[in-house]
Amino acid sequence: MGLLPGDALFSLAVAVVLFLLLVDLMHRRQCWAARYPPGPLPVPGLGNLLQVDFHNAAYSFYKLRSRFGDVFSLQLAWSPVVVVNGLEAVHEALVKHNEDTADRPPIPTYEHLGFRANSKGKACREKSGLVPQVLNAIPILLRIPGLAQKFLPLTKDLLHLLDNLLREHNMTWDPTQPPRDLTDAFLAEIEKAKGNPESSFNDANLRMVISDLFAAGMVTTATTLSWALLLMILHPDVQRRVQQEIDEVIGQGRRPEMADQARMPFTNAVVHEVQRFADIAPMTLPHMVSCDVELKGYLIPKGTMLITNLSSVLKDETVWEKPFHFHPGHFLDSEGHFVKHEGFMPFSAGPRMCLGEPLARMELFLFFTCLLQRFNFSVPQGQPRPSDCGMVSFLVAPAPYQLCAVPR
Ligand code: HEM
Repeated sequence: MGLLPGDALFSLAVAVVLFLLLVDLMHRRQCWAARYPPGPLPVPGLGNLLQVDFHNAAYSFYKLRSRFGDVFSLQLAWSPVVVVNGLEAVHEALVKHNEDTADRPPIPTYEHLGFRANSKGKACREKSGLVPQVLNAIPILLRIPGLAQKFLPLTKDLLHLLDNLLREHNMTWDPTQPPRDLTDAFLAEIEKAKGNPESSFNDANLRMVISDLFAAGMVTTATTLSWALLLMILHPDVQRRVQQEIDEVIGQGRRPEMADQARMPFTNAVVHEVQRFADIAPMTLPHMVSCDVELKGYLIPKGTMLITNLSSVLKDETVWEKPFHFHPGHFLDSEGHFVKHEGFMPFSAGPRMCLGEPLARMELFLFFTCLLQRFNFSVPQGQPRPSDCGMVSFLVAPAPYQLCAVPR
Protein backbone atom coordinates (compact mmCIF):
# COMPACT_ATOMS: atom_id res chain seq x y z
CA MET A 1 0.00 0.00 0.00
CA GLY A 2 1.46 3.36 -1.05
CA LEU A 3 1.78 6.37 1.24
CA LEU A 4 -0.99 8.97 1.10
CA PRO A 5 -0.02 12.11 -0.81
CA GLY A 6 0.44 15.29 1.30
CA ASP A 7 -2.98 16.78 0.43
CA ALA A 8 -4.85 13.59 1.29
CA LEU A 9 -2.93 13.32 4.57
CA PHE A 10 -3.85 16.89 5.47
CA SER A 11 -7.54 16.28 4.65
CA LEU A 12 -7.49 13.12 6.76
CA ALA A 13 -5.94 15.01 9.70
CA VAL A 14 -8.56 17.77 9.39
CA ALA A 15 -11.33 15.16 9.24
CA VAL A 16 -9.98 13.42 12.36
CA VAL A 17 -9.70 16.71 14.26
CA LEU A 18 -13.23 17.72 13.21
CA PHE A 19 -14.53 14.33 14.27
CA LEU A 20 -12.86 14.62 17.69
CA LEU A 21 -14.19 18.16 18.13
CA LEU A 22 -17.67 16.93 17.24
CA VAL A 23 -17.42 14.09 19.77
CA ASP A 24 -16.21 16.63 22.32
CA LEU A 25 -19.11 18.97 21.57
CA MET A 26 -21.61 16.09 21.83
CA HIS A 27 -20.29 15.30 25.30
CA ARG A 28 -20.63 18.93 26.29
CA ARG A 29 -24.15 19.52 25.06
CA GLN A 30 -25.31 19.38 28.68
CA CYS A 31 -23.63 22.76 29.24
CA TRP A 32 -25.81 24.39 26.63
CA ALA A 33 -29.00 23.51 28.50
CA ALA A 34 -30.94 26.56 29.62
CA ARG A 35 -29.95 27.82 33.08
CA TYR A 36 -26.92 25.50 33.36
CA PRO A 37 -24.54 26.87 36.05
CA PRO A 38 -21.67 29.05 34.74
CA GLY A 39 -18.05 27.94 34.92
CA PRO A 40 -14.59 28.37 33.41
CA LEU A 41 -14.23 27.75 29.68
CA PRO A 42 -13.29 24.09 29.06
CA VAL A 43 -10.67 23.14 26.46
CA PRO A 44 -11.49 20.36 23.98
CA GLY A 45 -10.78 16.87 25.31
CA LEU A 46 -9.51 17.83 28.75
CA GLY A 47 -12.27 20.22 29.75
CA ASN A 48 -11.18 22.03 32.93
CA LEU A 49 -8.88 19.28 34.20
CA LEU A 50 -5.85 21.56 34.02
CA GLN A 51 -7.62 24.54 35.60
CA VAL A 52 -8.26 22.87 38.97
CA ASP A 53 -5.52 22.04 41.47
CA PHE A 54 -6.71 18.64 42.67
CA HIS A 55 -4.09 18.63 45.44
CA ASN A 56 -5.91 21.60 46.92
CA ALA A 57 -9.38 21.54 45.43
CA ALA A 58 -10.80 23.56 48.36
CA TYR A 59 -8.62 26.53 47.40
CA SER A 60 -9.28 26.15 43.65
CA PHE A 61 -13.00 26.03 44.33
CA TYR A 62 -12.73 29.02 46.68
CA LYS A 63 -11.30 31.07 43.79
CA LEU A 64 -13.81 29.74 41.25
CA ARG A 65 -16.68 30.47 43.66
CA SER A 66 -15.62 34.09 43.93
CA ARG A 67 -15.76 34.30 40.09
CA PHE A 68 -18.88 32.27 39.33
CA GLY A 69 -20.94 32.17 42.53
CA ASP A 70 -22.20 29.44 44.89
CA VAL A 71 -23.12 27.00 42.13
CA PHE A 72 -20.68 26.62 39.26
CA SER A 73 -19.92 24.00 36.65
CA LEU A 74 -16.78 22.22 35.51
CA GLN A 75 -16.07 19.81 32.71
CA LEU A 76 -13.67 17.03 33.76
CA ALA A 77 -12.67 15.66 30.34
CA TRP A 78 -16.13 14.62 29.15
CA SER A 79 -17.82 14.42 32.54
CA PRO A 80 -19.99 17.38 33.52
CA VAL A 81 -19.63 18.33 37.18
CA VAL A 82 -21.47 20.92 39.26
CA VAL A 83 -19.81 22.23 42.43
CA VAL A 84 -22.10 23.51 45.21
CA ASN A 85 -20.73 25.92 47.83
CA GLY A 86 -21.86 27.58 51.06
CA LEU A 87 -24.34 26.45 53.74
CA GLU A 88 -27.48 27.59 51.95
CA ALA A 89 -26.77 25.96 48.57
CA VAL A 90 -25.27 22.75 50.06
CA HIS A 91 -28.26 22.40 52.40
CA GLU A 92 -30.65 22.90 49.47
CA ALA A 93 -28.78 20.27 47.40
CA LEU A 94 -28.41 17.59 50.08
CA VAL A 95 -31.45 18.10 52.30
CA LYS A 96 -34.17 19.76 50.20
CA HIS A 97 -33.44 17.65 47.12
CA ASN A 98 -32.32 14.70 49.24
CA GLU A 99 -33.52 11.77 47.12
CA ASP A 100 -32.65 13.43 43.79
CA THR A 101 -29.01 14.06 44.71
CA ALA A 102 -28.27 10.80 46.54
CA ASP A 103 -26.85 8.69 43.69
CA ARG A 104 -23.14 8.06 43.34
CA PRO A 105 -21.33 8.45 40.02
CA PRO A 106 -19.40 5.43 38.78
CA ILE A 107 -15.74 5.61 39.80
CA PRO A 108 -13.82 3.69 37.13
CA THR A 109 -10.50 3.50 39.02
CA TYR A 110 -12.22 1.85 41.97
CA GLU A 111 -14.09 -0.65 39.86
CA HIS A 112 -10.94 -1.38 37.89
CA LEU A 113 -9.21 -2.41 41.11
CA GLY A 114 -11.74 -5.10 41.80
CA PHE A 115 -14.95 -3.63 43.17
CA ARG A 116 -18.07 -4.58 41.34
CA ALA A 117 -19.94 -1.92 39.41
CA ASN A 118 -22.93 -2.25 41.72
CA SER A 119 -20.90 -1.76 44.88
CA LYS A 120 -21.85 1.90 44.82
CA GLY A 121 -21.36 4.21 47.70
CA LYS A 122 -17.62 4.17 47.87
CA ALA A 123 -15.08 6.44 46.38
CA CYS A 124 -11.51 5.58 45.73
CA ARG A 125 -9.52 6.46 48.84
CA GLU A 126 -6.45 7.11 46.75
CA LYS A 127 -4.38 10.22 47.17
CA SER A 128 -6.00 13.06 45.30
CA GLY A 129 -4.23 14.62 42.35
CA LEU A 130 -4.50 15.08 38.65
CA VAL A 131 -3.69 11.52 37.53
CA PRO A 132 -6.53 9.75 39.42
CA GLN A 133 -8.91 12.47 38.17
CA VAL A 134 -7.74 11.95 34.59
CA LEU A 135 -8.12 8.17 34.94
CA ASN A 136 -11.66 8.58 36.25
CA ALA A 137 -12.54 11.15 33.61
CA ILE A 138 -11.03 9.13 30.73
CA PRO A 139 -11.48 5.51 31.92
CA ILE A 140 -10.26 4.05 28.63
CA LEU A 141 -6.74 4.86 29.90
CA LEU A 142 -7.21 2.20 32.58
CA ARG A 143 -6.81 -0.38 29.82
CA ILE A 144 -3.12 0.51 29.60
CA PRO A 145 -1.50 -2.39 31.49
CA GLY A 146 -0.03 -1.43 34.86
CA LEU A 147 -1.16 2.21 34.77
CA ALA A 148 -3.75 1.96 37.56
CA GLN A 149 -1.34 -0.03 39.74
CA LYS A 150 1.33 2.60 39.22
CA PHE A 151 -0.82 5.59 40.06
CA LEU A 152 -3.18 4.06 42.62
CA PRO A 153 -0.74 2.03 44.74
CA LEU A 154 -2.40 2.78 48.08
CA THR A 155 -5.77 1.39 47.04
CA LYS A 156 -4.09 -1.66 45.55
CA ASP A 157 -2.09 -2.20 48.77
CA LEU A 158 -5.19 -1.82 50.92
CA LEU A 159 -7.09 -4.36 48.84
CA HIS A 160 -4.14 -6.74 49.06
CA LEU A 161 -4.07 -6.39 52.85
CA LEU A 162 -7.82 -6.99 53.07
CA ASP A 163 -7.61 -10.06 50.86
CA ASN A 164 -4.93 -11.51 53.15
CA LEU A 165 -7.05 -10.82 56.23
CA LEU A 166 -10.08 -12.44 54.61
CA ARG A 167 -8.05 -15.48 53.51
CA GLU A 168 -6.74 -15.89 57.05
CA HIS A 169 -10.27 -15.65 58.44
CA ASN A 170 -11.58 -18.19 55.95
CA MET A 171 -8.88 -20.64 57.00
CA THR A 172 -9.35 -20.26 60.75
CA TRP A 173 -13.13 -19.77 60.92
CA ASP A 174 -14.91 -22.42 62.97
CA PRO A 175 -18.70 -22.33 62.38
CA THR A 176 -19.32 -24.31 65.57
CA GLN A 177 -17.83 -21.50 67.66
CA PRO A 178 -19.39 -18.09 68.37
CA PRO A 179 -18.21 -15.50 65.77
CA ARG A 180 -14.95 -13.81 66.70
CA ASP A 181 -15.86 -10.66 64.79
CA LEU A 182 -17.92 -9.18 61.96
CA THR A 183 -16.07 -11.18 59.29
CA ASP A 184 -16.94 -14.47 61.00
CA ALA A 185 -20.59 -13.42 61.29
CA PHE A 186 -20.63 -12.46 57.60
CA LEU A 187 -18.99 -15.77 56.60
CA ALA A 188 -21.76 -17.61 58.46
CA GLU A 189 -24.38 -15.66 56.49
CA ILE A 190 -22.57 -16.42 53.20
CA GLU A 191 -22.69 -20.10 54.12
CA LYS A 192 -26.45 -19.90 54.81
CA ALA A 193 -27.07 -18.01 51.55
CA LYS A 194 -25.25 -20.53 49.35
CA GLY A 195 -27.37 -21.37 46.30
CA ASN A 196 -29.32 -18.09 46.55
CA PRO A 197 -27.98 -15.78 43.82
CA GLU A 198 -30.24 -12.94 45.06
CA SER A 199 -28.57 -12.76 48.46
CA SER A 200 -26.24 -9.86 49.17
CA PHE A 201 -24.21 -12.09 51.49
CA ASN A 202 -21.37 -12.98 49.15
CA ASP A 203 -17.58 -12.68 49.03
CA ALA A 204 -17.57 -9.44 47.01
CA ASN A 205 -19.83 -7.67 49.53
CA LEU A 206 -17.81 -9.00 52.46
CA ARG A 207 -14.70 -7.44 50.88
CA MET A 208 -16.62 -4.21 50.41
CA VAL A 209 -17.89 -4.08 54.00
CA ILE A 210 -14.45 -4.74 55.45
CA SER A 211 -12.85 -2.17 53.15
CA ASP A 212 -15.49 0.35 54.32
CA LEU A 213 -14.57 -0.27 57.93
CA PHE A 214 -10.89 0.23 57.23
CA ALA A 215 -10.99 3.07 54.74
CA ALA A 216 -14.12 4.97 55.82
CA GLY A 217 -14.14 4.09 59.49
CA MET A 218 -10.60 3.98 60.78
CA VAL A 219 -8.52 6.56 58.93
CA THR A 220 -11.20 9.25 59.34
CA THR A 221 -11.38 8.93 63.12
CA ALA A 222 -7.60 8.52 63.52
CA THR A 223 -6.96 11.62 61.38
CA THR A 224 -9.44 13.66 63.44
CA LEU A 225 -7.76 12.54 66.67
CA SER A 226 -4.36 13.56 65.35
CA TRP A 227 -5.85 17.00 64.62
CA ALA A 228 -7.31 17.08 68.15
CA LEU A 229 -3.92 16.46 69.78
CA LEU A 230 -2.21 18.96 67.50
CA LEU A 231 -4.76 21.64 68.40
CA MET A 232 -4.35 20.84 72.11
CA ILE A 233 -0.60 21.44 72.01
CA LEU A 234 -1.12 24.62 70.00
CA HIS A 235 -3.83 25.85 72.44
CA PRO A 236 -2.71 24.80 75.96
CA ASP A 237 -5.36 27.05 77.54
CA VAL A 238 -8.09 25.02 75.82
CA GLN A 239 -6.37 21.78 76.87
CA ARG A 240 -6.35 22.94 80.51
CA ARG A 241 -10.05 23.82 80.44
CA VAL A 242 -10.93 20.40 79.00
CA GLN A 243 -8.85 18.69 81.71
CA GLN A 244 -10.52 20.81 84.39
CA GLU A 245 -13.93 19.67 83.14
CA ILE A 246 -12.76 16.04 83.03
CA ASP A 247 -11.49 16.32 86.62
CA GLU A 248 -14.78 17.81 87.82
CA VAL A 249 -17.14 15.43 86.02
CA ILE A 250 -15.18 12.16 85.76
CA GLY A 251 -12.14 12.46 88.00
CA GLN A 252 -9.22 10.04 87.77
CA GLY A 253 -10.93 7.01 89.32
CA ARG A 254 -12.80 5.69 86.28
CA ARG A 255 -12.83 5.83 82.50
CA PRO A 256 -15.02 8.31 80.57
CA GLU A 257 -18.44 7.09 79.40
CA MET A 258 -20.83 8.46 76.81
CA ALA A 259 -23.23 9.47 79.59
CA ASP A 260 -20.62 12.03 80.73
CA GLN A 261 -20.89 13.99 77.51
CA ALA A 262 -24.12 15.75 78.50
CA ARG A 263 -22.34 17.21 81.55
CA MET A 264 -19.24 18.28 79.62
CA PRO A 265 -20.29 21.16 77.35
CA PHE A 266 -16.80 22.58 76.93
CA THR A 267 -15.22 19.25 75.94
CA ASN A 268 -18.13 18.60 73.58
CA ALA A 269 -17.64 22.04 71.99
CA VAL A 270 -13.90 21.38 71.61
CA VAL A 271 -14.48 18.05 69.83
CA HIS A 272 -16.97 19.74 67.46
CA GLU A 273 -14.59 22.63 66.82
CA VAL A 274 -11.74 20.19 66.11
CA GLN A 275 -13.91 18.58 63.44
CA ARG A 276 -14.97 21.93 61.98
CA PHE A 277 -11.47 23.36 61.89
CA ALA A 278 -9.80 20.14 60.68
CA ASP A 279 -12.29 19.81 57.81
CA ILE A 280 -10.85 16.40 56.94
CA ALA A 281 -13.16 15.55 54.01
CA PRO A 282 -13.46 18.94 52.30
CA MET A 283 -15.06 17.66 49.10
CA THR A 284 -16.88 14.72 50.74
CA LEU A 285 -17.68 11.88 48.29
CA PRO A 286 -19.14 12.76 44.89
CA HIS A 287 -22.90 12.54 44.37
CA MET A 288 -24.88 12.29 41.13
CA VAL A 289 -28.31 13.73 40.35
CA SER A 290 -30.85 11.07 39.44
CA CYS A 291 -33.26 13.48 37.66
CA ASP A 292 -33.19 17.11 36.51
CA VAL A 293 -32.78 19.26 39.60
CA GLU A 294 -33.35 22.99 40.06
CA LEU A 295 -30.84 24.47 42.47
CA LYS A 296 -30.54 28.17 43.31
CA GLY A 297 -32.24 29.05 40.01
CA TYR A 298 -29.96 26.79 37.92
CA LEU A 299 -30.96 23.60 36.20
CA ILE A 300 -28.75 20.56 36.77
CA PRO A 301 -29.50 17.83 34.23
CA LYS A 302 -29.96 14.20 35.26
CA GLY A 303 -26.67 12.27 35.44
CA THR A 304 -24.50 15.28 36.37
CA MET A 305 -21.88 14.67 39.04
CA LEU A 306 -22.36 16.89 42.09
CA ILE A 307 -19.52 17.96 44.37
CA THR A 308 -20.84 19.43 47.58
CA ASN A 309 -18.00 21.52 48.95
CA LEU A 310 -18.23 20.81 52.70
CA SER A 311 -15.19 22.97 53.33
CA SER A 312 -17.10 26.00 52.10
CA VAL A 313 -19.76 25.23 54.75
CA LEU A 314 -17.41 24.47 57.64
CA LYS A 315 -15.50 27.69 56.88
CA ASP A 316 -18.44 29.75 55.57
CA GLU A 317 -17.63 33.38 56.38
CA THR A 318 -21.32 34.30 56.61
CA VAL A 319 -22.02 31.60 59.19
CA TRP A 320 -19.07 31.35 61.59
CA GLU A 321 -17.68 34.07 63.83
CA LYS A 322 -14.03 33.08 63.18
CA PRO A 323 -14.16 30.62 60.26
CA PHE A 324 -10.40 30.21 59.85
CA HIS A 325 -9.46 30.06 63.55
CA PHE A 326 -9.78 27.32 66.14
CA HIS A 327 -12.49 28.75 68.38
CA PRO A 328 -14.52 26.34 70.60
CA GLY A 329 -16.81 29.32 71.39
CA HIS A 330 -18.53 28.56 68.04
CA PHE A 331 -20.39 25.82 69.91
CA LEU A 332 -21.05 27.56 73.25
CA ASP A 333 -23.64 30.14 74.26
CA SER A 334 -22.93 33.07 76.55
CA GLU A 335 -23.57 30.87 79.61
CA GLY A 336 -21.19 28.14 78.50
CA HIS A 337 -23.89 25.69 77.37
CA PHE A 338 -23.21 23.57 74.30
CA VAL A 339 -25.11 24.75 71.22
CA LYS A 340 -25.62 22.89 67.95
CA HIS A 341 -24.79 24.72 64.75
CA GLU A 342 -26.46 24.11 61.39
CA GLY A 343 -23.17 24.76 59.59
CA PHE A 344 -21.56 21.79 61.38
CA MET A 345 -21.49 19.34 58.48
CA PRO A 346 -18.27 17.28 58.60
CA PHE A 347 -20.34 14.12 58.05
CA SER A 348 -22.25 15.73 55.15
CA ALA A 349 -26.08 15.77 55.20
CA GLY A 350 -29.11 14.08 53.64
CA PRO A 351 -29.63 10.40 52.91
CA ARG A 352 -25.97 9.85 51.93
CA MET A 353 -24.66 11.34 55.14
CA CYS A 354 -21.87 9.33 56.79
CA LEU A 355 -23.24 5.99 57.95
CA GLY A 356 -20.67 5.82 60.73
CA GLU A 357 -21.47 9.19 62.29
CA PRO A 358 -22.80 7.92 65.65
CA LEU A 359 -19.86 5.54 66.01
CA ALA A 360 -17.35 8.22 65.00
CA ARG A 361 -18.81 10.72 67.49
CA MET A 362 -18.57 8.17 70.30
CA GLU A 363 -15.03 7.20 69.37
CA LEU A 364 -13.91 10.82 69.21
CA PHE A 365 -15.42 11.76 72.56
CA LEU A 366 -14.19 8.66 74.39
CA PHE A 367 -10.65 8.57 72.96
CA PHE A 368 -10.18 12.33 73.34
CA THR A 369 -11.35 12.47 76.97
CA CYS A 370 -9.42 9.29 77.87
CA LEU A 371 -6.20 10.77 76.46
CA LEU A 372 -6.61 14.12 78.18
CA GLN A 373 -7.62 12.46 81.44
CA ARG A 374 -4.31 10.59 81.52
CA PHE A 375 -1.78 12.89 79.83
CA ASN A 376 -0.61 16.47 79.44
CA PHE A 377 0.33 17.14 75.84
CA SER A 378 2.82 19.78 74.77
CA VAL A 379 5.25 20.79 72.03
CA PRO A 380 8.57 19.04 72.87
CA GLN A 381 11.18 21.42 74.27
CA GLY A 382 13.36 22.98 71.63
CA GLN A 383 10.96 22.01 68.82
CA PRO A 384 9.34 24.68 66.63
CA ARG A 385 5.61 25.24 67.01
CA PRO A 386 3.95 22.89 64.47
CA SER A 387 1.79 24.31 61.71
CA ASP A 388 -1.98 23.96 61.78
CA CYS A 389 -2.17 23.88 57.97
CA GLY A 390 -3.44 20.57 56.64
CA MET A 391 -1.79 18.29 54.11
CA VAL A 392 -4.26 17.47 51.39
CA SER A 393 -4.55 13.85 50.37
CA PHE A 394 -7.93 12.08 50.00
CA LEU A 395 -8.41 13.32 53.56
CA VAL A 396 -6.82 16.42 55.03
CA ALA A 397 -4.37 15.43 57.78
CA PRO A 398 -2.01 17.58 59.85
CA ALA A 399 1.57 17.74 58.60
CA PRO A 400 3.68 15.26 60.66
CA TYR A 401 4.43 16.77 64.08
CA GLN A 402 6.00 15.69 67.36
CA LEU A 403 4.39 16.00 70.76
CA CYS A 404 5.37 15.28 74.30
CA ALA A 405 2.90 13.21 76.38
CA VAL A 406 3.50 13.33 80.14
CA PRO A 407 1.26 11.25 82.49
CA ARG A 408 -0.80 13.55 84.71
C1 HEM B 1 -14.48 11.61 61.94
C2 HEM B 1 -14.94 10.57 61.33
C3 HEM B 1 -15.69 10.56 60.02
C4 HEM B 1 -15.95 11.55 59.13
C5 HEM B 1 -15.54 13.03 59.19
C6 HEM B 1 -16.72 10.96 58.04
C7 HEM B 1 -17.19 11.66 56.95
C8 HEM B 1 -17.89 11.09 55.91
C9 HEM B 1 -18.36 11.80 54.77
C10 HEM B 1 -18.17 13.30 54.51
C11 HEM B 1 -19.01 10.91 53.97
C12 HEM B 1 -19.66 11.19 52.60
C13 HEM B 1 -21.11 11.58 52.75
C14 HEM B 1 -21.69 12.03 51.43
O1 HEM B 1 -21.42 11.42 50.40
O2 HEM B 1 -22.44 13.01 51.40
C15 HEM B 1 -18.94 9.63 54.60
C16 HEM B 1 -19.47 8.48 54.08
C17 HEM B 1 -19.40 7.25 54.70
N1 HEM B 1 -18.84 6.98 55.93
FE1 HEM B 1 -17.95 8.32 57.16
N2 HEM B 1 -16.90 9.64 58.30
C18 HEM B 1 -16.30 9.34 59.50
C19 HEM B 1 -16.28 8.12 60.15
C20 HEM B 1 -16.87 6.97 59.68
C21 HEM B 1 -16.92 5.72 60.39
C22 HEM B 1 -16.37 5.48 61.80
C23 HEM B 1 -17.55 4.82 59.57
C24 HEM B 1 -17.90 3.35 59.77
C25 HEM B 1 -17.44 2.59 60.68
C26 HEM B 1 -17.91 5.52 58.35
C27 HEM B 1 -18.56 4.95 57.29
C28 HEM B 1 -18.99 5.64 56.17
C29 HEM B 1 -19.66 5.01 55.06
C30 HEM B 1 -20.01 3.53 54.92
C31 HEM B 1 -19.94 6.03 54.13
C32 HEM B 1 -20.65 5.90 52.78
C33 HEM B 1 -22.13 6.16 52.97
C34 HEM B 1 -22.90 6.06 51.65
O3 HEM B 1 -22.31 5.98 50.62
O4 HEM B 1 -24.10 6.08 51.71
N3 HEM B 1 -17.48 6.82 58.46
N4 HEM B 1 -18.27 9.75 55.80
